[in-house]
Amino acid sequence: MKILLLGANGQVGFELQRALAPLGELVATTRSGKQPGDVVCVQADLGDSDALADVLNSVQCDIVVNAAAYTVVDRAEDEPALAERINGVALAEIGAWAARRGALVVHYSTDYVFDGQGTRPYREDDATAPLGAYGRSKLAGEIALRGAGCDHLILRTAWVYSARGNNFLRTMLRLARERERLGVVDDQRGAPTSSRLIAAVTAAMLTQWIGCEPARRAGYNGLYHLAAAGETTWCGFARALIAAATRAGLVARAPEVAAIRTADFPVKARRPAYSVLDTSRLCERFGLVLPEWTQGMDATISELAEVYSSPMQQAAEKA
Ligand SMILES: NC(=O)c1ccc[n+]([C@@H]2O[C@H](COP(=O)([O-])OP(=O)(O)OC[C@H]3O[C@@H](n4cnc5c(N)ncnc54)[C@H](OP(=O)(O)O)[C@@H]3O)[C@@H](O)[C@H]2O)c1
Repeated sequence: MKILLLGANGQVGFELQRALAPLGELVATTRSGKQPGDVVCVQADLGDSDALADVLNSVQCDIVVNAAAYTVVDRAEDEPALAERINGVALAEIGAWAARRGALVVHYSTDYVFDGQGTRPYREDDATAPLGAYGRSKLAGEIALRGAGCDHLILRTAWVYSARGNNFLRTMLRLARERERLGVVDDQRGAPTSSRLIAAVTAAMLTQWIGCEPARRAGYNGLYHLAAAGETTWCGFARALIAAATRAGLVARAPEVAAIRTADFPVKARRPAYSVLDTSRLCERFGLVLPEWTQGMDATISELAEVYSSPMQQAAEKA
């Protein structure tokens, strides 16, 4: 199996490189054609139709895994056309190519396709009503991919964090070291999900898809919710991760974490107040069990503590 990975420098893309490597020949691509440490790789920019077609035609893969996306939620309000191009139109192009080639497309979408008015975990067929440009562009990508007629697995995930990249966990760790008191939103509910979990589940799904008789693979096609089990608020997540980081020695003295309301922290794009995802379709179809969100958080804090305590890192801190 030849697998083309788009967006290998992102939180999810980075973890996918490790998780998918055992499944076949993996061709990792990034927007710049560079990976950390200036390592050269294939360049694939979803903003450029012709260049994207060239990459697809030259790599000729059996599976496209798209971890690339326009993910700057607030900025999308100012440049909706660009978000739509990368998150929507590019998926129509990838899907059309995959339909012609007979390839599978694995794609990630978001809890931000919902308006957050729900009172129980969202199921895949619940009505969508994105509150902002980012959510609308991601919904456009889902629709385009489903309409393209290729085999596809669309995985809606939520509240993604990892040991690297820009994310809530890393921002909270930085602020916890700098401040004595933090105010964190306590009226949005969701399930923090580590990029490592997303990559591991993707690999488990693909292992089953690859192992299945080709004529029956289309039976897996569809939309699945993929998030860690349980739920919390951003404030609950911040308190838990700062406590874990303090125990691990990443934070010398835990700051006070005060609960604030969304209205007290104005941002450009509206977010859903409730975006817990019901993952039972994925668990039942693929026979998987998804761990509580605290497990991924503890593992990520341990990973960071290991990096932080390495002799190289300590030397870098002193320099
Ligand atoms: N982060 C979340 O909380 C969250 C929540 C729900 C769903 N999701 C979805 O999960 C998936 C993975 O997200 P993530 O958290 O891993 O995002 P991320 O860390 O922001 O990574 C996105 C990657 O996409 C790349 N990219 C942006 N524009 C591109 C373009 N025009 N061409 C090629 N690559 C481009 C970025 O490249 P550069 O490195 O060059 O910028 C980046 O490496 C996305 O589909 C996202 O919508 C994320």
